[in-house]
Amino acid sequence: MSGIEGKVVAITGASSGIGEATATYLAAHGAHLVLGARREDRLNAVVDRIRAEGGSATGVVVDVTRREDLKRLTDRAVAHFGRLDVLVSNAGTMAISPFDELRQDDWDAMVATHITGLLNGIGAALPLFRRQRSGQFVNVASTAAYVVKPPQAVYAATKTAVKVLTEGLRQESGPDLRVTLVSPGFTNTEGVGKGASPEAAAAVIRQRDEIAMPPSAVASAIGYAIEQPDGVDISEIVVRPTVQA
Ligand SMILES: NC(=O)c1ccc[n+]([C@@H]2O[C@H](COP(=O)([O-])OP(=O)(O)OC[C@H]3O[C@@H](n4cnc5c(N)ncnc54)[C@H](OP(=O)(O)O)[C@@H]3O)[C@@H](O)[C@H]2O)c1
Repeated sequence: MSGIEGKVVAITGASSGIGEATATYLAAHGAHLVLGARREDRLNAVVDRIRAEGGSATGVVVDVTRREDLKRLTDRAVAHFGRLDVLVSNAGTMAISPFDELRQDDWDAMVATHITGLLNGIGAALPLFRRQRSGQFVNVASTAAYVVKPPQAVYAATKTAVKVLTEGLRQESGPDLRVTLVSPGFTNTEGVGKGASPEAAAAVIRQRDEIAMPPSAVASAIGYAIEQPDGVDISEIVVRPTVQA
């Protein structure tokens, strides 16, 4: 199998930003989509818009920190479309803050969403991919997995974990599976600064508004990794605005 047309792709964090843009891009290229996120109204709006534009999509309310939710997402793919070709683990939270503020709930949420959430996706999709003898993991990290800047240490650490887990998974995946890490730089989404401490939020929102690339730039990078022929694995993509240091 190659190309995007006809592939069944599940995406977490599809209710806004990069996940929504990726769903839109893949739907326009003929993929069947299984979209997951927590905000049901936003998720339904994305599904309805894709269908209205002639695309194929279904939505599942998913909290990636819950193991059973990821299982429901992958089960929906099989029930609705007969298989799952790609799982895009994109759900994330950028609730950055300085250590001194001790925003420990935010630290926990980043660990749970990026690390446990990714592992829950692997737990749900890997047995299915093994049975099918094909499948692709696309894991969304960040340029923060390459460069740590204050006050982003916890965020950067969890995204570094995404990078490490993705490389380890790739090495264990064998000849039938593909494993791709996609690391965006500043991207113009509502998630930038959301939940962050006020000072940190103001700084990243200012930077976003000055330099960010559109989420469609990340969507087409993910599409590029998906459209390669079965035996070709795009292992790692870093996509950032040219002006980002
Ligand atoms: N924007 C950037 O500059 C940038 C740069 C590098 C990397 N990234 C990464 O790109 C990914 C997408 O972020 P974005 O910029 O597109 O921000 P966004 O618009 O806020 O999107 C985040 C998505 O994740 C979902 N989500 C958050 N926690 C979740 C959970 N526990 N379970 C299920 N879904 C959850 C959100 O939906 P609900 O709230 O409806 O659940 C939303 O759909 C994140 O992993 C982020 O770290 C972003």
